[in-house]
Amino acid sequence: MRQLVKPGAPKADSNARSRRPAVGPKAKEKPAAASGHRRLCYLAILAVTIFLWYRFSLLDDDGLRTGRAKGDADPCQGRYIYVCKLPARFNADIIRDACRDTDAGGERLCASVGNAGLGRPLEDPADGVLTGENGWHGTRQLALDVIFHNRMKRYECLANRSTVATAIFVPFYASLDFARHAAVGDNATRDAAAADVADWLRWRPEWDRRSDGHDHFLVAGRAARDLMRDGSGPDWGTNLLVTPAGRNMSALVLESSLHEATSGFAVPYPTYFHPRTDADVFRWQERVRGLRRTWLMAFVGGETRQAPGSPATTNDYVMAQCKASESCGHLKLGRCAAGSTSQCHSPVNVMRLLQNATFCLHPPPGGDSYTRRWAFDSMVAGCIPVFFNPASAYLQYKWHLPKDYTKYSVLVPEAGIRAGTVSIEATLRAIPAATVARMREEVVRLIPTVVYADPSAKLETVKDAFDIAVEGILHSVARPRA
Ligand SMILES: *[C@@H]1O[C@H](CO)[C@@H](O)[C@H](O)[C@H]1NC(C)=O
Ligand SMILES: *[C@@H]1O[C@H](CO)[C@@H](O)[C@H](O)[C@H]1NC(C)=O
Ligand SMILES: *[C@@H]1O[C@H](CO)[C@@H](O)[C@H](O)[C@H]1NC(C)=O
Ligand SMILES: *[C@@H]1O[C@H](CO)[C@@H](O)[C@H](O)[C@H]1NC(C)=O
Repeated sequence: MRQLVKPGAPKADSNARSRRPAVGPKAKEKPAAASGHRRLCYLAILAVTIFLWYRFSLLDDDGLRTGRAKGDADPCQGRYIYVCKLPARFNADIIRDACRDTDAGGERLCASVGNAGLGRPLEDPADGVLTGENGWHGTRQLALDVIFHNRMKRYECLANRSTVATAIFVPFYASLDFARHAAVGDNATRDAAAADVADWLRWRPEWDRRSDGHDHFLVAGRAARDLMRDGSGPDWGTNLLVTPAGRNMSALVLESSLHEATSGFAVPYPTYFHPRTDADVFRWQERVRGLRRTWLMAFVGGETRQAPGSPATTNDYVMAQCKASESCGHLKLGRCAAGSTSQCHSPVNVMRLLQNATFCLHPPPGGDSYTRRWAFDSMVAGCIPVFFNPASAYLQYKWHLPKDYTKYSVLVPEAGIRAGTVSIEATLRAIPAATVARMREEVVRLIPTVVYADPSAKLETVKDAFDIAVEGILHSVARPRA
């Protein structure tokens, strides 16, 4: 009878249907062990048990439902997140040290993670590209670590004890840690923090409470491969995600590794727009819906060929088509000068171009990488993204972007571009105006899901990229593992 009580226990979210099959095997075992009239007796008891079980299951299921309907259920049930109390050397001190280090890019790193990770506020130029809205910042991708941590501080279902949490957030600034040692040759220095954090986590009660770290997650504003140096690929980056502890945790990254079994989940690059209220989002959506767009297409970036004479990348072919077209706006971004203390391009100029084009071209940058931040900035600008490889978005941002990619984007396979048989301009001109309008409307609808709201504020009804990432990770760690 003890089992009959179990369904009433608070933990039982499972319904009657999932419990009933457990009766099956027992019903077979018991009669097999008895004979004759004892068997009859057993059968009778079994029948009553099954009957009671069934009744109680129903009652329980019903009771659960009416209980919830009365509103006494916890809206945070299944959504609690516990934030590890990591020592400051894993987050705040990395920023502090960068800010003290005046040479070798420390200053730039320091400036770019100010304002809770958003970076310096952008001023709206005279022509009103940012329409005087609040919430525009010169945000860099590596600041995602900091933005996410600050958003998490205001998450509505923070657990104060790890035992009630579904997932455990590890606020280690993995991409800032990568950045400070990227130019250092020796592995021990690059991997020191990864080893240290693994060691720290490993001895915490929450680590092996039930999962050996499988319910832990961290966030890094980098591609996963930059944190996966294991000797099989380029001698580059840290080994955080390939250490025994790193493998058990989940990582939210800007580009997941598609070649290896990895726990990296891709989330949007941070854009320049960080709304503070729902109204900020709605006003911006209204604006980009109504823009007159001069260019059919736009491309932001320069050549990515490694060296003169090395093979051209898809990026370079796409750029060549853009330059040759009267209908393509091109903004060339130069390389950052060494020691530069500001961003090497003007975010306002980028946003001006992206708002002035119907389609925005996002070829893979080359090498191992497929994604680029402008895909998200261009969506914020209401520009329909054009991809050349499914790995640039569709295979990556599954939580944030619709499964049916034709609703909001165009795929022009890169083989035709490289072979010189496909004209991007002709492909885009062939799309009927009504279809273009529908796609743009979908892009505009997706704006909140690809921006990170200002961590000092909170959107009310609108879900942003953070909210969707948190839902994704809760769903992922709640899945039973083999
Ligand atoms: C946890 O937080 C809740 C409310 O947020 C509070 O009622 C409870 O006392 C806290 N428990 C501990 C152990 O701090
Ligand atoms: C660094 O570690 C990788 C394996 O992760 C190894 O292949 C490489 O040789 C090491 N480099 C140095 C300089 O020790
Ligand atoms: C990682 O998880 C596996 C089980 O999935 C466990 O055996 C192993 O000890 C864990 N590693 C660490 C470092 O906790
Ligand atoms: C869009 O581009 C055209 C052509 O360069 C330019 O004349 C126009 O001012 C631009 N519009 C905006 C809003 O920047």
